[in-house]
Amino acid sequence: MSGRGMDPRFMQELKQKNNIVEVIGSYIALDRKGGNYWACCPFHHEKTPSFAVNESEQFYHCFGCGVSGDVVRFVQEIESTDFPGAVRILAARAKIPVPESDFDSEKAAALKRKRDTLVKILLDTARFYLSNLYGGRAEAHLEYISRRKLAPTTVKKFGLGASLDFYSLPEYLTGKGYSRADLLDSGVLTEAKNGRLIDSQGGRLIFPIINAFDEVVAFGGRLLEKSDFAKYKNTKETLVFNKSKTLYNINLLKKLKRTKPISEVIVVEGYMDTISLYQAGFENVVASMGTSLTKDQARLVKRYSENVLISYDGDFAGQKADLRGLEILKDENLNVRVVPLPDGLDPDDVAKQGAAAYQACLDAAMPLIDYKLHALEGKYDLKKSEDKRNFLAEALKVVRTAESESEKEDLLKKLRDKTEISYQSLERDLNNLPAEKQLEIAVPPPSEAGTDKYKKAARFILAAKLFSAPYAENYTLDGIEFEDNVHKIIAQYIGSCEKNAEKVRPSELFEILDEDCPEFNEILDLNYGDKLSGEIAERFFSDSVKTLEREKIGEKIREYTKLFSEERDTEKRKEIARKINEYTKLLK
Ligand code: UTP
Ligand code: MN
Repeated sequence: MSGRGMDPRFMQELKQKNNIVEVIGSYIALDRKGGNYWACCPFHHEKTPSFAVNESEQFYHCFGCGVSGDVVRFVQEIESTDFPGAVRILAARAKIPVPESDFDSEKAAALKRKRDTLVKILLDTARFYLSNLYGGRAEAHLEYISRRKLAPTTVKKFGLGASLDFYSLPEYLTGKGYSRADLLDSGVLTEAKNGRLIDSQGGRLIFPIINAFDEVVAFGGRLLEKSDFAKYKNTKETLVFNKSKTLYNINLLKKLKRTKPISEVIVVEGYMDTISLYQAGFENVVASMGTSLTKDQARLVKRYSENVLISYDGDFAGQKADLRGLEILKDENLNVRVVPLPDGLDPDDVAKQGAAAYQACLDAAMPLIDYKLHALEGKYDLKKSEDKRNFLAEALKVVRTAESESEKEDLLKKLRDKTEISYQSLERDLNNLPAEKQLEIAVPPPSEAGTDKYKKAARFILAAKLFSAPYAENYTLDGIEFEDNVHKIIAQYIGSCEKNAEKVRPSELFEILDEDCPEFNEILDLNYGDKLSGEIAERFFSDSVKTLEREKIGEKIREYTKLFSEERDTEKRKEIARKINEYTKLLK
């Protein structure tokens, strides 16, 4: 699993001969302060240094933008190259040869080769579509582009292209020597019923989807005319494209961040929304590509800004799924506001009326809970007393979900102004709302596994183990079921080091974990500023252990409660109830 197919001994030598302080120091000026070296981060714009290089552990970490990595990752980022590229640069620097075959892991190497091939196919395809657009045969596409008021510079910036038919792309790609299997696996070609290879996007206007490392990973294609076929078609999920982990325009957002701080990110649904807003001067925009936001997308956004403006179609409030997507953003501790748009319009429509029109919408952005009330209001005519009553019944249910008393008060005042019902009456009605339906049997404790508290506890325990905090020495991770995948991997790594009596080296994890691993960055953050030492840290550690153990017991109680409800045999039910009681006592 390590070294992406490289021989681990070679990787070790490569790193030993490339001290991270010297390598980074050859790109930017480093200042020694305390145990670390500091600089202004080369990966985002800043005026005071928050980029730290840890010499003893051989990794860097930026507190401003959250990036981190080992010496290989740094070269990858600063040289905008891939892993093998960075390895080659560092090997040349240290004057050591790169081994020819990778006998560490055949599988990892094969996967890497496959990935490289797919990315090459995708790039060749993007270039093919691009040259089609200006090749003299794409009148319909160009006409469509101008109808949608996209300037030539915009078209170029987003690399838009044209698929002219179903057969020229397969011919072109086959001619380049790619295998049928690779072409199908890349998603750009599809097998027709008669077995012939065809362009998956036959005839469409092409929007390349590019990741943060400037690789084309997929395409969105739009029909030029209304028909029964889906308006947009995306490349299928492949080895390099996972729609729920990708955001359209993340590549340009990354570049933007290097030139100036991004105070907020605008999240829209569509390709055209993104492009229109960008053209109108709102460059801090990404698209979720039609689906409701996922946790991975929320985390991706968080690398660029804590503040998110949701800018969906004017009538999206009716669609519950999307509001749920917004809760996901809140769970990632992002500051979410919703941009109200006129009914029936999308950001593209508004941007076409001019930047000022869209700016006015942005200025009216409001917190999610306010937006829910705002959307509700749109469904009723408050001048009619019956509507007003129905509106209030629903609105108070929303107010009840407020996170604090002051928020409640604020919302009640707004309702008062909208309805001209007195604050006192509204407050009384709120308090008289019927309680949420009660369950018949005793309620097991809710799972804390996904909560912030649990996550913080898990992170702290892992950080303490990774950086060998003395108070964590005798604590073993055996039997702890970590919820988060990254946590699981880190725990496995620590476990295997302990089993083999090897030293835990946090920087080795950069080779095991994904390129972009915000969760690992959170854990690395804990190693700075004395967060892991002292009495408070020690106490937090034991609290964290308790939190994880409580969750373990809670999980048991929930399991048995489920068994209990399914069991019909009285004796067995008694037995299960006894177990639940035991665990419940333990919990207290
Ligand atoms: P919309 O239906 O809101 O379209 O889909 P749009 O962005 O306004 O498109 P235009 O203005 O008519 O060109 C929003 C997004 O949902 C995804 C696409 O990513 C689209 O940009 N989508 C939509 C699909 O993937 N397939 C579809 O058939 C429709
Ligand atoms: Mn649209």
